[in-house]
Order: sequence, then structure tokens, then C-alpha cells
Amino acid sequence: MNVLGIETSCDETAASVVGVDGVRSDVVYGQAVHAAFGGVVPELASRAHAEQIVAVVRAALQNAGIERPDAVAATAGPGLVGALLVGLSFGKAAAVGWGVPFVAINHLEGHLLSCLLDRPAPEFPFLALLVSGGHTTVYLAEGVGRYRTLAETVDDAVGEAFDKVARLLGLGYPGGPHIDALATSGDPRAIAFPRPRVGELDMSFSGLKTAVRNYLLAHPGAPPADVAASFQAAVADVLLDRVRRAAKLTGVDRVAMGGGVAANSFLRASLAASGLRVFLPPRARCTDNAAMIANVGRLRLLAGLGADSLETTAHPRWPVGSAA
Ligand code: KG4
Ligand code: ZN
Repeated sequence: MNVLGIETSCDETAASVVGVDGVRSDVVYGQAVHAAFGGVVPELASRAHAEQIVAVVRAALQNAGIERPDAVAATAGPGLVGALLVGLSFGKAAAVGWGVPFVAINHLEGHLLSCLLDRPAPEFPFLALLVSGGHTTVYLAEGVGRYRTLAETVDDAVGEAFDKVARLLGLGYPGGPHIDALATSGDPRAIAFPRPRVGELDMSFSGLKTAVRNYLLAHPGAPPADVAASFQAAVADVLLDRVRRAAKLTGVDRVAMGGGVAANSFLRASLAASGLRVFLPPRARCTDNAAMIANVGRLRLLAGLGADSLETTAHPRWPVGSAA
């Protein structure tokens, strides 16, 4: 079964075909229009999606060497409502036109299960560390569609912290990749930033961002590479501690990671050295893409969870694991 996935929840217009042998095509158009604004401008995102969607979907089908898929899966949330509506409406219309099933996908479930697109893939149950621009959560994935939240941030998402610290350092948006690159020439032990944990499993990142700001005010000559590396080390320590604790509590030592921050080289290396059994999607499949959406659509249909109604609308907020 070949599933066409469509993703337009934020500022990437993406389409992909996933079949029995894995990813057959994976097209991501990153919208450059937002760079000048230091963040995503929702109305500009919707317009760019509407302009690009036909070419992006056509390229995904062409690269996969197929004329029509056996099902269409599109992101229905969470995300920017106008942006979501472009891919969702296009996906529904295409499914009707081809006479194939339509599946509405939760973007977070896409990140959560992207570890299943490559070999070796973890068996259920596994722990999934989701680190993106809006979410920082450790889930216990028990099966397709069955996720238990074990740990989460009580304030900022870790991607948000990367973007804010990048701004403090005068780097561009999105900040994660800039910090990642700058940190390679810095010393992760140069500055002892706090490691904020909350209760037994939760965490907090807004205090860490403030600590970086205060440090920069007090040490205006601090080498930016050391600040970036030390910030990353603090983030990695907190995340690793929470994942280790979740593993101990559940007795599950298989750990997958997903979401944009999972592309971070320091975090990937720290997790890989943790002694847990770690499953990392390739870096390009950590940031937003449509292969992860096609993947969930395919798995849901194969698991007998059924197609979704064409009445399904966009959900700007949508907890993973709940119905569309
Ligand atoms: O999953 P994603 O592409 O979009 C959301 O669903 O939010 O995640 C975007 C976030 C941004 O905060 C970005 O700065 C961060 O992922 N990010 C990174 C890296 N690449 C992207 N953070 C740290 N290191 C990276 N290499
Ligand atoms: Zn994402």
C-alpha cells in the first residue's frame, strides 16, 4: 500500500510517498519568506502553502514513480489553523478525486513514530522523547494510537529555548541549527548552567533561558561558542536524566527521539552514549517532513484503525492519542 502524506502545519510545505519498503519520495519545501521576521508569520505561511502545494505533491508522486496512491494522509493538527487547512483540504479533495481513503494525522504522532521508518526500528512498547518547537514530552508508546505521557516541560518547549538563546547570541531563526553549529567549537563544561527538573519526571526550560541571559549580561565578553555548548549540555543533561528515570519506572529501555531538536548533534551523541537502546531517525527526518505523516497514515490503516471522515477539520490544538 502506497500512502501519500501531506504536511503543512507550520512553515514547511511537504509531501511524501511511503510504501511497503519504506520512504519512496520525500519532498520538503522550506518557506524562506519568514527569515526576515525572526519567526513564522501565519498568513504568509498559508499563502506560501497554497502556492506550493500542487508542485510539491506532484514532485512526491513523480519521485516515487506512481500516478496515484492507495490512500492520502494529511496533517490535521496541531499547528497554525490557516496553514493546516491548505494541506488538509488539498488532501481530502485529492482522496475524493482518486477514490481512495483519507486519513487525518496528528503531527506529534508523526514525530513520535518516525523511528519506525528505518531499520533497525524499535518494537512496542518504547519510550519516545519528543523535542520540537512546541513540545517536550516523554511518551510511552504502547502501540499505534496508544501513547501515555510520562514526563513533560512545565513551561517552555526545548526548541523554544534554543530559539530564544540563539536570539540572545544574535544568531538567526530558527536558532537550533545555529547553536548546534556554533557549539561544535565550544566547551560544554565552560559554564555551569542550571539543570532544572520538576518533581519526579517533569522539567522546565524557561529558567535556563533566563540563566543564559543573566550570564551574558554579567559576562559580555564570554565566548559565544562556550555559551552555546554549555547551554546544550544543560539541555541534554536534563532530557537524559528524565528519560533514564522514565526507563527505570517503566522497565522499558528502548528509546526513540523525534522532533526538530532531535536533529541536534550533541543531544544525539549524549543519548547514543546513555547505555539505553537508542533509535534515532536520520537528521532530515527529525525536522518537519511528510514521510512521517504518510508513515502514520499507513500504520493506522494497516492496524485497522480506519479512514477518517471528510468532515474532519483542522485542530490547532490536538493532544496526541485522542480522536480527530
Ligand atoms: O519539529 P520541528 O521542525 O517543528 C515543530 O513541530 O515545532 O521543530 C522545530 C524546532 C525549532 O525550535 C528549531 O530551532 C529546532 O527544532 N531545531 C534544532 C535543530 N534543528 C531544528 N534544535 C537544536 N539543534 C538542531 N540541529
Ligand atoms: Zn514538528
